[in-house]
Amino acid sequence: MLDQLIIGFDKALRTVFAPAGTVRPVPGGDLPEAELSDEEKRRAASLMRVNHCGEICAQALYQGQAMMSRDEGIKRALEGAAQEETEHLAWTERRIAELGGRKSLLNPLWYGGSLAIGMLAAKFGDGVNLGFLAETERQVEAHLKSHLDRLPEHDLRTREIVVQMKVDEAAHADTALRLGAVELPGVVKAAMKASSRVMTGVAYWV
Ligand SMILES: [Fe+2]
Ligand SMILES: [Fe+2]
Repeated sequence: MLDQLIIGFDKALRTVFAPAGTVRPVPGGDLPEAELSDEEKRRAASLMRVNHCGEICAQALYQGQAMMSRDEGIKRALEGAAQEETEHLAWTERRIAELGGRKSLLNPLWYGGSLAIGMLAAKFGDGVNLGFLAETERQVEAHLKSHLDRLPEHDLRTREIVVQMKVDEAAHADTALRLGAVELPGVVKAAMKASSRVMTGVAYWV
């Protein structure tokens, strides 16, 4: 148990403070940098800060689920998704730096909150836990879709990252469903939407 805690704590510190790695090449990484006005750069960097923040939360959710689940099959099946979340973290981080932006100052807070929520969801058993993951991934997918409307049209280096993340999140939702996710009550889904609105709203600025 103590080992688990130490490993978890180490993971948390690395997630929030160390650069993430990627196996797949960064989507759009070979495209030329677009001519962007200062306002466009700021907007793209702010949106990517929100997405980076979402990926910090995803790390916490997947880590919480791996710590709490007793089903080795489910744990293994979710490892691939968790690995892709780490890549998303790396891609958004890199793009924020390219755009001259910065990461959210509140990342430790978002991480801690998400870990707590993830561990709470896990208490209700694997079905609910997976349902929570599936619903989170669906909401993130919808959110990324809305970013494609707000990002500068010609900022392809940013857009390609968001497009690939959106594809991955949809696949993660499918994985959770395949593993036996239960459908959450509407009121829970609404509460999740409301809290993610707070996070995305704040992270756009801070
Ligand atoms: Fe992600
Ligand atoms: Fe995901």
